[in-house]
Amino acid sequence: KEEARILREGIIDGIGAGLRKILESIRETAAREGVKAYLVGGIVRDIILGIKNEDIDIVVEGNGIEFAKSLCETLGGRKVVSHEKFKTAVVVVDDELKIDVATSRVEYYEYPTSLPTVEYGSLREDMFRRDFTINSLALEVDNNRFGDLVDYFNGYRDIRDKKIRILHNLSFIEDPTRIIRAFRFASRYGFDIAEETERLLQDSIENGFLKRVSWPRVKTELKIILGDRRPHRALEYLEKYGILKTIHPKISYSSRMKSQIEKTADSKKLLDTLGLEKWMVNFLVVLENLNSDELDLVFNKFGFSGSFRKKYHLGSTKRKKILEELSIARKNSRIYDILKEVTNEIIVLLYLEGNRELKENIEKYVYTLRDAECMVGGRDLIEMGEAPGDHFKDILKDVFYFQLDNPGSGREELLEILEEKFRKN
Ligand code: CTP
Repeated sequence: KEEARILREGIIDGIGAGLRKILESIRETAAREGVKAYLVGGIVRDIILGIKNEDIDIVVEGNGIEFAKSLCETLGGRKVVSHEKFKTAVVVVDDELKIDVATSRVEYYEYPTSLPTVEYGSLREDMFRRDFTINSLALEVDNNRFGDLVDYFNGYRDIRDKKIRILHNLSFIEDPTRIIRAFRFASRYGFDIAEETERLLQDSIENGFLKRVSWPRVKTELKIILGDRRPHRALEYLEKYGILKTIHPKISYSSRMKSQIEKTADSKKLLDTLGLEKWMVNFLVVLENLNSDELDLVFNKFGFSGSFRKKYHLGSTKRKKILEELSIARKNSRIYDILKEVTNEIIVLLYLEGNRELKENIEKYVYTLRDAECMVGGRDLIEMGEAPGDHFKDILKDVFYFQLDNPGSGREELLEILEEKFRKN
């Protein structure tokens, strides 16, 4: 009892003020609706680990959809999107806050990887259908037992012992994506995969279950791995179990890939300025050795749109040329000219492998040159008496490049240059 009290107090202490407030509303709503509500899944695991997680998942014993509607009112939320068939709902509070509500249920898998048939059941059964013990914890959000851990499968012990362990022997057969999830959690938290779990995982791979996996779902998991702060052990596992080779035989986890991914993590400011997501840049690092047809194959497999290859492929000859030219470019206009047609993601890839001069040139392009606008335009030429035509572009480009190379120049000076060019023309 004493142990449970200490645990509960520790957990309540670990809940931040924002989440605490939301849980209070959930508690109130549950009392009003006469149902039991639990906080479940990844967020409980992360509260115990002291890690920030904003995905609020609630399981309700009772009518989940009615509960969601009532909770939405309590919170003054925007709307409830419900799914009658699965008895689930999302409370959309505002742009930032969404709360997932599920009804306690059992899922029967009719055959591996099929869609589940839904029936009502108990919380225990709901927890039992989850992937790992560390994700099978529930937290009571109840008047009397607020903060009590419901731990049917020793999830707390496994968090303490740093173990990734499945709940039953068919887990990977029911859902082969869990194989990748095991690597992901082991890597992110620095946990080990429990011996028996790793053996079953290996059996599933050897039995070819990965061939039945849904690639868009693998993409979801890979996205998380490649966006995580600690992706390396996950990639080592993916290499060890031949999963990278299943994506494409030419992919392997090399020391170069490792170092490029580390460099992506150090280039946050550049990524943010370009509006890029870390996972996508890392994904391109993973696919670095593929030619354009091979890239097409992988993008198709993962369900990316057809324009991806065009956007993200830069032939090796072109890449070499850009790298060479960019590392010796001195003039702003030259840097601009080399990079103006290059996709943002590729700019980052070039940055990751470039020397100091090249990096400085890319930084200059991203932080200043890229957004520069020409201070004179076609209208000025027309005012000078020139008839509009294709030649405008060249004249204006020359003046714009002069502007880039002479950052102090004002519009007056540029107009003079424009006029001179116009006369010559
Ligand atoms: N889940 C599962 N099998 C899967 C995917 C998910 O059992 N293939 C369960 C897990 O128990 C998980 C919950 O569904 O806790 C929510 O899934 P997800 O949001 O992907 O996982 P989180 O644990 O919340 O991970 P993250 O913190 O990375 O979002």
